[in-house]
Amino acid sequence: MASEDQISLFEASTTSNQTALPQDFNPDLIPTDAKIPIPPGTYQTMEQIAVHCNQCYRCALGQTRTHAVIGRGNPKASIMIVGEGPGQNEDETGIAFVGKAGQLLDKILASVQLTETDVFICNVVKCRPPGNRDPEKGEIEACKGYLLEQIRMMNPKIILLTGKYAMLTLLGIKQGITKVRGQWVEKDGRLYMPIFHPAYLLRNQSREKGGPKWLMWQDIQAVRAKLAEIGG
Ligand code: URA
Repeated sequence: MASEDQISLFEASTTSNQTALPQDFNPDLIPTDAKIPIPPGTYQTMEQIAVHCNQCYRCALGQTRTHAVIGRGNPKASIMIVGEGPGQNEDETGIAFVGKAGQLLDKILASVQLTETDVFICNVVKCRPPGNRDPEKGEIEACKGYLLEQIRMMNPKIILLTGKYAMLTLLGIKQGITKVRGQWVEKDGRLYMPIFHPAYLLRNQSREKGGPKWLMWQDIQAVRAKLAEIGG
């Protein structure tokens, strides 16, 4: 398919705490307070994380959520995509990226023949920040242990960071996304690439060469090529 046609489709360490788990450790008994660490190895499945997040009060977002949103897709895939936090649709359904931004993300993936079986899509914070405001530092810190557990369990080769909060949380990069998008960063044996958040693409509809959608098209093709190269 010509790249112009493809563009038109777009009408969507981790090793902070290595303390050994006590023999009798039971994740159901973790006090849901942000000051209590979530040691690596706490969880064995995404379902366990879902159960815990739905009764989590490590930050105030627990008081306003309808559902915690853990992620969708294949937890055994080679690619993890990390967004910011659930919006209204996600809060209501408990499913990640089901609103307009998520639909666009699915189209972007489909443009290089990637589907839900090739990726796992999750967020930096698992509960919706009220009014879709940006997640606060304390909320990100409180929730980070769950994301690190998801990465440890899934062990993805490639992690795509959509937008500044994913980039800041997992790579500590404070530069603007436009400066660093499309660049591979190797860390802890994984390849990370910051990319535009699909919501940003929804606000910037231009398809001109060099514009956000065109750049996203370059980036997703690079991801596709890298996946083939590493045999994912
Ligand atoms: N935006 C995000 O960052 N995550 C979602 O799940 C939905 C919209």
